[in-house]
Amino acid sequence: MVKVGAVGDIHSPKFLEDFRTALKSADCSKLDLFLFAGDLVLKGKVSNIEEVLDTLEENKIKCPIISCFGNEEYSNIRAEITMKAENRIKFLDDESTTIKIRDVNVGIVGSQGSLESPTSWQSRNIPNVEKIYAERIDKIAKILGNLQTDIRILLTHYPPTYKVLKGERKWFYPHVGCNRCEKVISSDRIDAVICAHSHLGIPFALVNNVPVYNVSLPATRKISVIEVSKTGSLDQYMVP
Ligand SMILES: [Fe+2]
Repeated sequence: MVKVGAVGDIHSPKFLEDFRTALKSADCSKLDLFLFAGDLVLKGKVSNIEEVLDTLEENKIKCPIISCFGNEEYSNIRAEITMKAENRIKFLDDESTTIKIRDVNVGIVGSQGSLESPTSWQSRNIPNVEKIYAERIDKIAKILGNLQTDIRILLTHYPPTYKVLKGERKWFYPHVGCNRCEKVISSDRIDAVICAHSHLGIPFALVNNVPVYNVSLPATRKISVIEVSKTGSLDQYMVP
């Protein structure tokens, strides 16, 4: 079992104060891993990653920190944000990494994820966005399939299911999450899914017997602390 702290949608500086409060009230001393589920900064403002890094430092987060990108980390700022955070946060953009925690190999696949249907802004501004989203689902499945670790975590910004979207406007579901992504969620290749982006959604749902956690800060108001075990073990379902 590994103990993971997770949060997304800080949109620094918008919810930075909430992030500070959440970190102060969480017990992060025994975390094995800290995961950000994207949208650390607001609308492409790269420099605002500094406050996030300072807040981590102030709160003495010592464990490895991994992040995927959110939709507000626009593709043209990702290299810069990766560089600014490189000593502290490892960003995964449709890729995986493996970390050894005690005697357990933990694999994390990080991706912005896909939407069922692009927003109208995305359709107007991102060429081939539908194709990008469709191809990304297969890409994630492939990366997961290649990950030969004891525990496997899928970290996406967009929820890869509608099940954690309860509370969002129903007609808007296709622009907040992706139901087609459920096909990649299976207990033989994932032990936990961690996502964000749904500010009004619920924190937990099961998809094909795999726990899916929405760790969006505006939704949870806290750092979600999740104990991840091999799928099927008894202590698997921790509602954050
Ligand atoms: Fe988002």
